[in-house]
Amino acid sequence: MLYGADYNPDQWPEEVWDEDVRLMQEAGVNIVSLGIFAWSRIQPAEDVWDFAWLDTVIEKLHAGGIAVNLATATASPPPWVSARYPETLPTDENGASYWPGSRQHFAPSSPVYRRLAGELVRRIAERYARHPAVVMWHVGNEFGCHLPMDFSDAARDAYRVWLRRKYDDDIAALNDAWGTSFWSQRYGSFEEVFPPRLAPYSHNPSSMLDYRRFTSDMLLECYLLEREILLEAGATQPITTNFMGPFKPADYRRWAPFMDVIADDCYPDPANPHRVRDAAFQRDLIRSLKPGVPWLLWEQATDAVNWRPSNPGKRPGALMAESAQSIARGADGIMFFQWRQSRAGSEKFHSAMLPHAGTGTRVWNAVTELGARLAALPELPAPGRDARVALVFDWESWWAVEERDHPTRVDYLALSLEWYGALHARGLLVDIVAPEDVDDGYDLVLAPALYLLRDAGAAALTRFVAAGGTLLTGPFSDIVDEHDQFRDGGFLTQLGPVLGLRFEDFGALAGATTGGTGVGAQGAHIADSASAGAVAFTLEGSSFSGRLVAETVHPMGAEVVAAFADGLAVGRPALTRHPYGEGEAWYVATQPVADGLDAVVAAVIEASGVRPVVDDLPADVEVARRGDLVTLINHGDVDAEVSIEGTDAESGRAVDRLSLASQEVRFILAPAGPASRRVSARVDASAL
Ligand code: GAL
Repeated sequence: MLYGADYNPDQWPEEVWDEDVRLMQEAGVNIVSLGIFAWSRIQPAEDVWDFAWLDTVIEKLHAGGIAVNLATATASPPPWVSARYPETLPTDENGASYWPGSRQHFAPSSPVYRRLAGELVRRIAERYARHPAVVMWHVGNEFGCHLPMDFSDAARDAYRVWLRRKYDDDIAALNDAWGTSFWSQRYGSFEEVFPPRLAPYSHNPSSMLDYRRFTSDMLLECYLLEREILLEAGATQPITTNFMGPFKPADYRRWAPFMDVIADDCYPDPANPHRVRDAAFQRDLIRSLKPGVPWLLWEQATDAVNWRPSNPGKRPGALMAESAQSIARGADGIMFFQWRQSRAGSEKFHSAMLPHAGTGTRVWNAVTELGARLAALPELPAPGRDARVALVFDWESWWAVEERDHPTRVDYLALSLEWYGALHARGLLVDIVAPEDVDDGYDLVLAPALYLLRDAGAAALTRFVAAGGTLLTGPFSDIVDEHDQFRDGGFLTQLGPVLGLRFEDFGALAGATTGGTGVGAQGAHIADSASAGAVAFTLEGSSFSGRLVAETVHPMGAEVVAAFADGLAVGRPALTRHPYGEGEAWYVATQPVADGLDAVVAAVIEASGVRPVVDDLPADVEVARRGDLVTLINHGDVDAEVSIEGTDAESGRAVDRLSLASQEVRFILAPAGPASRRVSARVDASAL
């Protein structure tokens, strides 16, 4: 189990470094991410290089038995870069420059930025690739975090190249894909295409989708460029960068194959009532990016952050509870931003492993206790193919469904979290996958708002149901193809036969909104949904409401399980089920509110026969399975009792019933029944 933090010794005089190493040992730290923002210290001017300080720090860490995850330091170009090469600066959609003075002020597609960053990486790699302290590489930092899109001239030029490649140099193919007959948008050549800069009105949505793909690809190219240089210099250590969970600008599913190990940053908001659910979703998404391979929690806060409007600390015990949630869901490393609290700069109020107030503090005690407990854990099983339930979550669909000019505004992440929440609350372990990744290893699949559905995704979902799976999909799904264009033949053209439905109308509800703001490393939490428009439906004798839409669908073989009780679609199906092949496909024609969603999900769980990790899970107790390891966490304020037969992984004692105090964590070895399928792939953790 790795334990550590970002380490920024360049913010401190040399006298402090020895104390750092000594206190790291005291806290149980065994790895640090070194020098993430040290570019200006390493290269104070274009032709001046200073590695002496870094040599010293690395030697001290090595002597102290602390491994180094060495940063490539490219995330914040020094002032001389911006002053001498202003063409490296990104711009917003108005053409205004993002100026230096903060961080991440580089245009990802800028050839000059790439050249300068590449030279920095080459020098670092050549110097340290064979150093025994260096066990891993940290490329850049949170690519795209502050700058989700760049509209600079560098981006314009790179976009044209990207489009030529995508459309085989055939401008007619681009015109077809974007539907440019609309509004006189037909392009005569790729040189006529611009980034979607400020325009009088809506940009072509198909072009927006390509611009988002391009943006994700440019950030990925920066990562790959650095990775290539590291490998050329002889680096043999795992190479990665830090992800930010469900981060809209970067399609991490396309990135994952290029990460030797997935590393994630997660900052649950103590004030978010759904923080446990939201963080569980993030960790499940991260685990699902590389099935069978443990991932690393690369950044979390020990206590308060500095970047929300108000920044409360964590409740006592939450540090262990939140760390255990990661371990339970596949992590083999628990790390923080950062080791020592800064005394200057924008993040001086951000908590750290070593607080500014020193070691005689609540936070230091929590940090050392956590370190000791992690160090004493037995070796954990690799996360296997433990989940029998999958939730479909797709970046391209996310990008497309949130474009403007739709029947209603959908906050895709907020909606996915709501659907996920109904599974999480019942103690079901969930993989979070692309539609193409759905296979018969799952028994139940939920696919909310799958607006953009690629042919291959539709085929996989169809095969899944035909082979005996249970599918629940819902409003605003299967509307467009991969170019954000309607397919011929209406809507639900791909899944209609599986669902036994014909789709007629969206039935947007007045003033409806999902009300969320998105999560991410530095995102705000999801607000509770508030909608003006609502529709009623009755399921198993109880009355519920739906929001966003009340679609008109016609059964073509599907059984109507619930019908709308009011509104334009009164009497029409609100929930249907349809046997298809060996399986069954359900459709809900509105976004059910709270209890309604829970009731709908309960019905499909029942139909699918999937079972929770433990039965009768008390509210606020979280459970997850990782191979033979079952983790139980009481996030609530009162004691809770859970029945589970197994062996306590820490004490070795047999258990059958547990009493969990508030924030208490127990790791129980309880082999899964034969129903749990496994994959054999696993990373060799000893290599880290
Ligand atoms: C992360 C970032 C760190 C630090 C941290 C503060 O997004 O990678 O460098 O800024 O947030 O919470």
